[in-house]
Amino acid sequence: MDISSILQGGYQHPLSRSWQGRRQLTKSMFMYPIFITDDPEASVVIPTLPGQRRWGVNKLESFIGPLVQKGLKSVILFGVPFNCEKDGCGTPADDPCGPVIQAIKKLRVLFPSLYIACDVCLCEYTSHGHCGLLNDDGTINTQPSVQRLAEVAVNYAKAGAHCVAPSDMMDGRIKAIKRALIDANLGSKCTLMSYSAKFASALYGPFRDAAGSAPSFGDRKCYQLPPTAKGLARRAIQRDVVEGADIIMVKPALPYLDIISDAAELAPDHPLACYQVSGEFAMVHAGATAGVYDLKTMAFETTESMVRAGATLILSYFTPDFLDWLET
Ligand code: PBG
Ligand code: ZN
Repeated sequence: MDISSILQGGYQHPLSRSWQGRRQLTKSMFMYPIFITDDPEASVVIPTLPGQRRWGVNKLESFIGPLVQKGLKSVILFGVPFNCEKDGCGTPADDPCGPVIQAIKKLRVLFPSLYIACDVCLCEYTSHGHCGLLNDDGTINTQPSVQRLAEVAVNYAKAGAHCVAPSDMMDGRIKAIKRALIDANLGSKCTLMSYSAKFASALYGPFRDAAGSAPSFGDRKCYQLPPTAKGLARRAIQRDVVEGADIIMVKPALPYLDIISDAAELAPDHPLACYQVSGEFAMVHAGATAGVYDLKTMAFETTESMVRAGATLILSYFTPDFLDWLET
């Protein structure tokens, strides 16, 4: 046997195995996506997302409190309004009495150390369910869309969000939101996390059930990226860096590890987030339930692969589980 053939001597012990990763999973890497609805007392099971619920603001203390005790550092809020008048420009998105703004204020008071990000999009609030404003022919009307998104982002930041995260995929929205934050004197107070490389994926199904945000006609293929589009993803990442994004995100995560790795190379000076989306979470659960693998082992394998590819931050519905599974 040649000297260079022997690798196993380097990882025969659990500790020496732990040294093989450039970085380890930690609790602070996880950001927990939560759904906030407008019934303040709600605690409604989401059948396609095991263990996840739609929460009312009055339930946040008892729901989030124990997680903060276990080391939860950040959440990202998604609004799921039912008692509102949806319209063409998503007016309910930044209703001061709506679930997101109410939840930001409540969480800031209840958990001063918790980092609060807000998803910024219009699809949960538009009558047509698309992520921007539309022209008469049903195509995206870019300019007013980015103006409206910037307005919503500023209103979330004013309510106390530490981070705004536009997931709409309208061209130019990062620049518009950054400009609007600066003009509102919030430029240094609020982080802008861009869903830069967001693909038109079949893996958003459970989320759209949970959030009631499926488009009423057509699909999102004219703004979310084609799954084959490595070049477009690279261009979108570079554009968002230039437009002022503070954090770059790739979404979904597991089928797009090559894009995460590209983003790490293209934006080496930015934190890099990836979103283990609803369908990925459901898939890991379904496989475990079918006896294909052990749930915890697979949850680790999938998220560790994201860290290996270059992610520094993971949005995941497994966050509460990892608070139990990880020591730090
Ligand atoms: C809204 C939005 C979606 C997700 C995050 N923000 C759905 C979509 O674009 O259709 C997906 C998250 C998930 O599946 O967990 N723009
Ligand atoms: Zn949307």
